Amino acid sequence: MKFIHLTDLHLVPPGGRLYGLDPSERLRAAIADITLHHRDADFVLVTGDLAHRGEVASYEALRAALDELPMPYHLLIGNHDHRERFRAAFPEAPVDANGFIQQVLETREGPFLLLDTNRPGTHAGWLCGDRLAWLYASLEACAEREIYIALHHPPLALGIPCMDVIALTQQKALADMVARHGKVRHMFLGHVHRPVHGTWNGVPFSTHRGLNHQVALSFEAVEGIPGTHEPPSYAVVTLNGGTTIVHVHDFLDDSPRFDLFDRRAESAASALDLLGRGRHGPPPTVN
Ligand SMILES: [Fe+2]
Repeated sequence: MKFIHLTDLHLVPPGGRLYGLDPSERLRAAIADITLHHRDADFVLVTGDLAHRGEVASYEALRAALDELPMPYHLLIGNHDHRERFRAAFPEAPVDANGFIQQVLETREGPFLLLDTNRPGTHAGWLCGDRLAWLYASLEACAEREIYIALHHPPLALGIPCMDVIALTQQKALADMVARHGKVRHMFLGHVHRPVHGTWNGVPFSTHRGLNHQVALSFEAVEGIPGTHEPPSYAVVTLNGGTTIVHVHDFLDDSPRFDLFDRRAESAASALDLLGRGRHGPPPTVN
């Protein structure tokens, strides 16, 4: 099974810009790239921060954009989202008995538990008692099955202080439930706006750059959150009988492509390097 993992779209109303960039344009480019190269994907998963300020117009624009995808899509909300406005734009989105944007998504490779960690008034993640109860029951219902979990907020400190202070709050509660279940094969995360992969209590996880702005890699405690314009990416994930592969794709990259076994291209590329033009210079030309 193959699916696409997008995260942190941060849409603003059409025509607007955010940190000097156009989030809608980035989303359109991602959708065009996915449609061109990954039409065979089972679905697209978006792990939250769909709209930067949770405006109605942003969710309506999101819906119009995502409806262009040739495959289904499944959405989580993040700290920047507004639950009620999201639900108004996506009334068919599954919710739990308490109205949280949570569901057990059955796939060809097993269930995906999609969690809602939004708490109005804070950028930190939150799983209240009701959501933890839903999670407990859902894990019970999936006992003995290999499962996957997606949530916006990382349930661990990643070593980036400005983001660690707004990670998931109930980390131990989630860790205890995941350990008790024992067959969580991967966690798909958002929030960090950086490519980070690792394991948490033995469970692999991955998160990626957002589609608009990024967070600088800084292991120092700083005021605020340092942003960057590093390139956006999405992930192409394949799951096959317990094997998980996560490819990260910089979909706006337009650097030259050449045959690594072509000696003439090798010489041309080296010459470009020596000239200091770098890999983002014009394509190597060979005669
Ligand atoms: Fe975000």
